[in-house]
Amino acid sequence: MAGNKPVVWVSRPTFDSEIARLLPHFEVREEAAEVKFASADLAAKLAGCDAAIVGLKDRVGAAEIAGAQRLRIVANLGVGYDNLDVTALTAAGIAASNTADVLNESVADFAWALLLGAARRVGEAERWLRAGQWHATGFKAWLGIDVRGRTLGILGMGRIGQAIARRAQGFGMPVLYHNRSRLPETTERECRARLVDKATLLRESDFLVLVLPLTPQTRHAIGAAELAQMKPTAVLVNVARGGIVDDAALAAALREGRLAAAGLDVFEGEPKVHPDLLALDNALLSPHIASATTETRRAMTAVAVDNVLALFSHGPHAGSPPNLLNSEALVVARAPFPTREEPTR
Ligand code: GLV
Repeated sequence: MAGNKPVVWVSRPTFDSEIARLLPHFEVREEAAEVKFASADLAAKLAGCDAAIVGLKDRVGAAEIAGAQRLRIVANLGVGYDNLDVTALTAAGIAASNTADVLNESVADFAWALLLGAARRVGEAERWLRAGQWHATGFKAWLGIDVRGRTLGILGMGRIGQAIARRAQGFGMPVLYHNRSRLPETTERECRARLVDKATLLRESDFLVLVLPLTPQTRHAIGAAELAQMKPTAVLVNVARGGIVDDAALAAALREGRLAAAGLDVFEGEPKVHPDLLALDNALLSPHIASATTETRRAMTAVAVDNVLALFSHGPHAGSPPNLLNSEALVVARAPFPTREEPTR
C-alpha cells in the first residue's frame, strides 16, 4: 500500500482513459516507455505493488514473484498467457487474468490480411515498387494464388478460429478444422466447418491457419514432419504464438519450394526473427500486431482494468474478476500463506 491506497503497476503505456478508472482506488505506476524487463527488474517492480497489469513481453514466474508479498493479481494484456507461470501464481495465492474474447474479430481480420497478403505477394510487391523497379513489370510477373473455392484449414478452433472460419464463407471456401474437442453441431454449421484429424488437415488444406495456444504439447506442432505432409502449393499462416512452428524448418520448406508461402505474425524467440525467414520473399512478416487496432487494444486495457478492480471489490464485476485463469488462487490468498510472510531468499 502507498498511503492508504494499493499500488497497481502497469508495465507498458496503454490507454489513459481506461487506466483513469483505477485512480479513485489505487496509486497507479505506469511505465512511460516500452521496456523489456530482465527477470530481476521485473521482480523488483512486482515486489512493490498489490496488482500488476503486464504485457506478453513480461515473463512472470516463481522467480519474479518471490519477493512480491503484497501482489494479489497479475492481469495479462493478451489472450494467450504462456508468459505467465499460472501454477506458480496460484501456489502463491496470486490471481491471473487474460483478455479473452475482446480481440477475436481483430485477430481474425489480421489472419485474413496475412493469408491474402501472402497469397497475392503483397509484401514482396510493395518492396519491389519502393525500390523503383516498376518499369520492368511483365504481364506474367507477380502471379499469385487464388483464394476463392480453396480449402481453409484451421488448427485450434476456439473463438478466434471460429471468427476466421465465418469469414471464409465470403470466399466460398470449405473449412476443415482440427481441435482438442469437437465444436457443438450448431457452431460447426454456423462456421460451415468439418472436424478432421491432424494428418487430413495438413494434407488437404490449401491455406492452414494456426490459432492454438502455446503449451509444452503444442511446441513445434508444425515442424519438418508436418510441413512435409502439406501441399507444396499451400500457404501457412501463424497468428497464434512463436514456438508452435519450427521456424528453421519452415524457412527451409519455403526456400526449397516445398511450401508456397507463409504469413507470420509471431516468431520463436521474438522479437528476434529467424534470419532465414527475413531473407525469404515468400514469407510475409509482421511484428505480433494481430490484435493491434485502437478499439481492440483499448478494450484489452479495459478488460485488464476490470479484472484488477474486481479483485479489489470495485467496478462492474466487484468480487469476481471476469477473466480469472486460476480461481483456486483466491482460496489460497484468503488462507495464511507462509511464502507471502517470509520471502524466500
Ligand atoms: C496476442 O498474441 C494475445 O495473446 O493477445
